[in-house]
Amino acid sequence: PFTAVWAPDGRRVEVPAHLSLLAALRRGGVLVASSCEAGVCGTCRLAVLDGEVEHRDSVLTEGERLSNVVACVSRARSAEIVVGP
Ligand code: FES
Repeated sequence: PFTAVWAPDGRRVEVPAHLSLLAALRRGGVLVASSCEAGVCGTCRLAVLDGEVEHRDSVLTEGERLSNVVACVSRARSAEIVVGP
């Protein structure tokens, strides 16, 4: 489990082990567009402003991984991750 902070308004969303970052954000009222929900299309990609990501997608380049997260499959490695559109 980890906490996601939605940068635009500082909203804090708990992400339990059984929910994806995408699903937890939606449950918290943050609307994130998605398509494949399997880490391959990149539609649900978000910017990472702080925190460490455990990348599980197969779409981002190594360079993109420095500042982005694919919300349908990837998770935080740190206790908290700050994300935005
Ligand atoms: Fe396709 Fe997340 S919805 S990568």
